[in-house]
Amino acid sequence: MKNRLQQFQSDGFLILENFNTANECDDLMRRAEELTSSFNYEGHPSVFQTTNQSRTTDDYFLESGDRISFFFEKDAFDDSGKLKNDLFHSLNKIGHALHDLDPVFDSFSRSPQMKKLVAELNLRDAVIIQSMYILKHAKIGGVVDVHQDSSFLYTEPESCIGFWYALEDATKENGCLWAMPGGHQTALRSWFRKKADGGTELLQLSDEPISMKGMIPLEVKKGTCIVLHGLLPHYSLVNTSGRSRQAYAIHTINRNAHYPDVNWLQRNMNELRGFE
Ligand code: FE2
Repeated sequence: MKNRLQQFQSDGFLILENFNTANECDDLMRRAEELTSSFNYEGHPSVFQTTNQSRTTDDYFLESGDRISFFFEKDAFDDSGKLKNDLFHSLNKIGHALHDLDPVFDSFSRSPQMKKLVAELNLRDAVIIQSMYILKHAKIGGVVDVHQDSSFLYTEPESCIGFWYALEDATKENGCLWAMPGGHQTALRSWFRKKADGGTELLQLSDEPISMKGMIPLEVKKGTCIVLHGLLPHYSLVNTSGRSRQAYAIHTINRNAHYPDVNWLQRNMNELRGFE
């Protein structure tokens, strides 16, 4: 039988059931709601429709690397700029430094089981570079197109690993992840980075389209952790069900890899922490 490391190396992902307890998941969901209630969205770049809309939205996104920032669903606002729903149920995600700035997210991200897992996966030089709380609410939770996480956390050599935690059951109906076993054995297709004159671009590194053949739904129970190789193409569909699919994800990179300063997400690299 393969151990966790061998399984991860051959599939490009690893599904670890009962990784977190139901209580640990509930505590994190409660904390996300608390953080949201303290967020005053008046003046948020998404609220105002101005000619600088895309620029201010870009800035808010680019400045979120060392903050706790709130991102709305695409259709959260009506024509007059008012939320169609309550604040919490209008959000798409919260990011990208929850793991460093909030004590509840910090201990979830650096739990005893995570320390054990990263040791088993030989990730002793891994540092957590970003975290995301993903809401995927009932009916409005949007699609996430097929992508490789290394496009968004580009390093030389490639070193990005994702840890995706199901805080609720994830099924085909509420928009679980999809991936292909062994799909990580392919080249990186694109690099999301800052443009010299402001804004961002998705630089194509290869013309070869990502094959969608063999993609399977990763339907998992609450408390499951899915480890994702940075080159593994994956996606999720819209949530058509009547219940949310809340998840939390962190990404690590190797502290010794080169992290270009044109990457969209910038942190003080000397301050990045691993799992110690
Ligand atoms: Fe991803």
